[in-house]
Amino acid sequence: MLKLEAHSAGSIPIRMRRNRKSQSIRKMVQETRLSPEDFVAPFFVIEGENKTTPIPSLPGVHRFSIDRIIQEAEALYERGIQSVALFPVIDPALKTEEAEEAWNPDGLLFKAIFRIKQELPDLCIMADVALDPFTTHGHDGLVNQKGEILNDETIECLIRMALMQAEAGIDFVAPSDMMDGRIGAIRQALDKNGYPNVGILAYSAKYASSLYGPFREALNVRLQYGDKKTYQLDPANSREALLEALLDEQEGADILMIKPATYYLDVIAKLRERTQRPIAAYHVSGEYAMVMAAHQAGWLDAGKVFYEALLSIKRAGADIIFTYAIPQILHQLEM
Ligand code: PBG
Repeated sequence: MLKLEAHSAGSIPIRMRRNRKSQSIRKMVQETRLSPEDFVAPFFVIEGENKTTPIPSLPGVHRFSIDRIIQEAEALYERGIQSVALFPVIDPALKTEEAEEAWNPDGLLFKAIFRIKQELPDLCIMADVALDPFTTHGHDGLVNQKGEILNDETIECLIRMALMQAEAGIDFVAPSDMMDGRIGAIRQALDKNGYPNVGILAYSAKYASSLYGPFREALNVRLQYGDKKTYQLDPANSREALLEALLDEQEGADILMIKPATYYLDVIAKLRERTQRPIAAYHVSGEYAMVMAAHQAGWLDAGKVFYEALLSIKRAGADIIFTYAIPQILHQLEM
């Protein structure tokens, strides 16, 4: 056995650099590889036909009408992206305290799921199950007079929403509001109503992060009061995140998600050792916006930084990565 000290003493040195000598050797010993199948492309859906609007805080990302999403998703599918997540931008006039628009059968999200599934049946479609795009106050759940977010009453709404998505043809519903018990309740409702094959991707460990700002701008969601700390996780905690994920697994989640991603790599790595389920990570809007802002200032190369960030997320143990940096990463991978 060679000892580390041997490097300097007269004996045979350990030359770590032999395995880095050329591109072909480096590729051969590369431990983590990104491929298009790893990624889920988020789409912000707007009403209308042939419509697209830019999102200032997410340079390069647009809101699209359904027909445009079909075009975009088809082009991405041809480059290997197999999966999309849909986020509806709801007209402020349709928002209410009780989020009734969330289960309106003619609602934008259900139309989008239905039409995209018809056009691109092989594409995997996911969507959030949470009330925040639909409430006037911007919280993820129903709120009482005292401003408390109601757990069990909200779950009734989530079940309605999940069943409507299932009916429209969703592949995975993604409960994203951090209410207790929602995974089990939604699983039961899906099974009872004839949707045993609709999966659940649980936002299991969603932190009360300051990195969601651009996403809320994209959806025009503004919190009218309070914060999300009574339901989303404290960034200081990782054991609590593991417990959340393992509870979701017990309740029937098919995929467990950690969100945000790069600031929570330790949580991803710890969960990797405790579950056999696939792990997803959401590389969120703020993680994208920071890099793009620095890129636009000429301070770093966004394509390369995204490659490194997404590699770190996969290296930590994530199987599936939601990211806005799809064009940049495909460009890196196709180079
Ligand atoms: C909705 C939801 C949010 C995100 C995904 N689903 C925002 C929030 O919880 O406030 C954030 C995604 C991102 O920032 O890219 N519950």
